[in-house]
Amino acid sequence: MSILVTGGAGYIGSHTCIELLEAGYQVVVVDNLCNSSKKSLERVQEITGKELTFYQDDLLDSEALDAIFQRESIDAVIHFAGLKAVGESVQKPLEYYHNNLTGTFILLEKMKKYQVKNFVFSSSATVYGSPKSVPIREDFPLHVTNPYGRTKLILEEVLTDVHTADPAFNVILLRYFNPIGAHRSGRIGENPKGIPNNLLPYITQVAIGKLPKINVFGDDYDTPDGTGVRDYIHVVDLAKGHVKAIEKLKENPGVEIYNLGTGIGYSVLDIIHNFEKACGRKLPYEVTARRPGDIAECYADCSKAKKELGWEAQYTLKDMCEDSWRWQKNNPNGYED
Ligand code: NAD
Ligand code: UD1
Repeated sequence: MSILVTGGAGYIGSHTCIELLEAGYQVVVVDNLCNSSKKSLERVQEITGKELTFYQDDLLDSEALDAIFQRESIDAVIHFAGLKAVGESVQKPLEYYHNNLTGTFILLEKMKKYQVKNFVFSSSATVYGSPKSVPIREDFPLHVTNPYGRTKLILEEVLTDVHTADPAFNVILLRYFNPIGAHRSGRIGENPKGIPNNLLPYITQVAIGKLPKINVFGDDYDTPDGTGVRDYIHVVDLAKGHVKAIEKLKENPGVEIYNLGTGIGYSVLDIIHNFEKACGRKLPYEVTARRPGDIAECYADCSKAKKELGWEAQYTLKDMCEDSWRWQKNNPNGYED
């Protein structure tokens, strides 16, 4: 069975390619490398000892996609490709709508043309906005506050419409909580360009001495220690969730939605202190103002994924911090030499 992985050179995509190859799937990646490096895929092949097929193409290039679907016999698509920086999406909404929405529309047109009926979509906990309570269930109301989040919500609705028009088209919408960590080999991991926006890559860059200190965005939230609480999930657990989703698609489920998290909330200070243990030194931090748009608490109820996919996160916060640190320490400049 052959899986087309869009955005497969990226952070979550590369880890998912490993799990797919190890589960015996053939993997075809399409990625324009706008936020990634081809080296991640070389390392995926080195780690697994298996080959994948890579097309350096843009989803907006209709002819390039035709060529891929004509050449490869694709059974299912896992769609990671997209721009994902919330702040940037506020500054450049049209770029986000064009890349994320139009890119997906073209992909869906090709799937229709070449009769490919199985789709897994990278959605995000961002679609829940500020939840009325935690843990968050899949049936909670949805509310988005920025263009990035809006692309996720629109695409969830578009994919549901496509299923309504063609009931044989199966879609699994995976709502990720906060993926961190890296493959245990230390060979692949998150490789943000410029100054990281997200907490974990920021911490790893402080730990390695590239940034002077961590800014803790607010300690006056209504949480046990006042700092923001999130559901951090090891990227390898997340990747395994995609293999389970591909298995689920074989049952022709129609449209299904699953939260992928651990169900446990950790605060910013919990993360800093656990990372200090992993890297073996104290990390300087300072409490600053809240980041606009941030919420106090966000963690998942993952019982649906456990019951219906037979999936549950296995890795602990200790594993996540140690694996993030191994990747950063061994690759201080990411995939650049
Ligand atoms: P990433 O940036 O590492 O990976 C995305 C990949 O898509 C990159 O390799 C990029 O080059 C590629 N890409 C972007 N636009 C493309 C286009 N038009 N054509 C071809 N390739 C294109 O990001 P990631 O963290 O691996 O995220 C993967 C997906 O998961 C994204 O859709 C993201 O929105 C979603 N997601 C990520 C997180 C997170 O915290 N990392 C959380 C929730 C959801
Ligand atoms: C971010 C995205 C969200 C996406 C999610 C998935 C933003 C605003 N939101 O959420 O759309 O679904 O990732 O991974 O980018 N923090 C600090 N200092 C920092 C960075 C973060 O204190 O330098 C705090 C934040 O206030 C938050 C926590 O750390 O409480 C996690 O932040 P981050 O890693 O950016 O993720 P989210 O904001 O949860």
